[in-house]
Amino acid sequence: MLKFDSQTLELINVSYRGTDITRRRMENMAALVPKPGERLLDLGCGQGLMTEELARAVGPTGEVIGVDPSPDMRAEAETRCAAQPNIRILDGNAGELPVEDGSFDGAVSLQVFEYVSDIASALADLQRKLRPGGRLVIGDMQWDTLSWASDDPDRMQRMRLAWERHVAEPNVPALLPSALETAGFHLVEMRPLPFTAVDLRPDGLPFMMLHLMRGYAIQNELLPAEEVEAWFEEQQERSREGRFFFSLTHFIAVAIRR
Ligand SMILES: C[S@@+](CC[C@H](N)C(=O)[O-])C[C@H]1O[C@@H](n2cnc3c(N)ncnc32)[C@H](O)[C@@H]1O
Repeated sequence: MLKFDSQTLELINVSYRGTDITRRRMENMAALVPKPGERLLDLGCGQGLMTEELARAVGPTGEVIGVDPSPDMRAEAETRCAAQPNIRILDGNAGELPVEDGSFDGAVSLQVFEYVSDIASALADLQRKLRPGGRLVIGDMQWDTLSWASDDPDRMQRMRLAWERHVAEPNVPALLPSALETAGFHLVEMRPLPFTAVDLRPDGLPFMMLHLMRGYAIQNELLPAEEVEAWFEEQQERSREGRFFFSLTHFIAVAIRR
């Protein structure tokens, strides 16, 4: 799986402040409907961007707990959130959260469940940690919706398959309706959030993916480096020539704890 270390952080830091990923974060945050005074959980908080934004939304009478297993991500989140006393950043994993049962009004987990190997036990744990009626928002890509134009479709397919190995589960949204019901949630909505790009903007989602996919395939020796570099060059050339096309759909599941 992809390592969330300082090298990955360096790669994602620009795009995580760019329009695509900011829109993704804002849509997930809006789906959670944070209210003043609430206690919220940000599972897989990463570098703490949404954690910080949620803490501003609940205000000084509320509290936000960010949980993440990566020391590099937590260090970045701690630095970002240091000035806000209503945030705590904890070490922990989905499925074994280091927080009290029934103690949260809401929880969000953005672009995390695809890295979770046991989705059923992660949801069961979230069900325990939320109060009855508590809200849960889970946002993930449905990777089989990826459409990415190439003059060499077979090579593109090999790159896609190599990239799918960076996650434990590439199509989380499709699994969520039944998994949420089984875990004791009522699914309210499955909201699509499509990303479409016709060029490689340096702050955009395809630009970030192009670099992450190249690094992942080469470092893990999933494909010959020359093939990966040829794919990387082709996409940059298509963007320069006005022939770039990329489309991928993220889904936001909104559920209530029964
Ligand atoms: C793509 S980042 C998303 C970060 C943040 N939620 C955001 O959207 O800005 C995925 C995060 O999930 C964390 N993660 C991976 N496996 C996890 C697990 N089993 N439990 C909790 N978090 C996990 C990683 O350390 C990483 O910080």
